[in-house]
Amino acid sequence: MLFGIEKVHLMTDTPLNIPLEKIPQHVAMIMDGNGRWALQRGLPRLAGHKAGTENLRRVIRATVEFGVKYLTIYAFSTENWGRPAEEVNGLMLILQNVIDRELDELHKEGVQLRHIGRLERLDPAIQNKVLHAIDLTKNNDRLILNVAFNYGGRDEIVNAIQNIIKDGISAEDVTDELVNRYLFTAGVPDPDLIIRTSGELRVSNFLIWQAAYSEWYITPTFWPDFDKEEYRRALETYAHRDRRYGKVSSGALQESNA
Ligand code: IPE
Ligand code: IPE
Ligand code: MG
Repeated sequence: MLFGIEKVHLMTDTPLNIPLEKIPQHVAMIMDGNGRWALQRGLPRLAGHKAGTENLRRVIRATVEFGVKYLTIYAFSTENWGRPAEEVNGLMLILQNVIDRELDELHKEGVQLRHIGRLERLDPAIQNKVLHAIDLTKNNDRLILNVAFNYGGRDEIVNAIQNIIKDGISAEDVTDELVNRYLFTAGVPDPDLIIRTSGELRVSNFLIWQAAYSEWYITPTFWPDFDKEEYRRALETYAHRDRRYGKVSSGALQESNA
């Protein structure tokens, strides 16, 4: 029993043993470790990416089941262009295949697909597939799935500044809220929880503005092995965090007022 509430899942549609208000609204994931997963098995890196894609399908399903409303996944960074051409091309193909194979199912499950990053720098065939997927699913609201592909946090901020200047906005009108509206993630709440697999302790240019007060869960598990049970553990760990936002916790306030 957690938080004095027993079997919360009887009252909600989530199988999690945590109160509804402790379920993060937005989870973001750095899906890292595909290459090392493959290396461990003596397989080519692309086999790791394929296994990672299979896992993504399971994670999306679990996200819907857990009742998380927004999921952002880091699939390809602006720095990943620096990998060998064979791997880059393989990753581009994987994105197209995933859309071809999974779109109908995702649509049926009520998933709304969005893209964050620079779409215009991708091959036109990929752009069309992505735009079609976004258009097809735009009225779904069970889960908002943001796919960060050709995404970089710095690039996102540079793009926002360029557009703010182009729109002739004056300096005194530039606020947090205005910047939010110019990011690729406009309209999406900041991530409550960021999960990074494969143990690296760095942000790797992911949601650097939006993560100002996100909680982190970092696990040594490689992405293809990150399963529903570990996902559940991440959410339950998150539910115990004391998010202070630079203030003092409400418990400490009560104590000092007593
Ligand atoms: C993450 O796995 C997927 C992408 C970056 C596209 P990696 O390919 O980074 O795997 P490692 O970190 O080399 O193990
Ligand atoms: C971050 O992983 C990018 C994605 C998961 C798409 P990387 O493997 O590119 O990050 P670094 O190079 O270890 O920082
Ligand atoms: Mg990596």
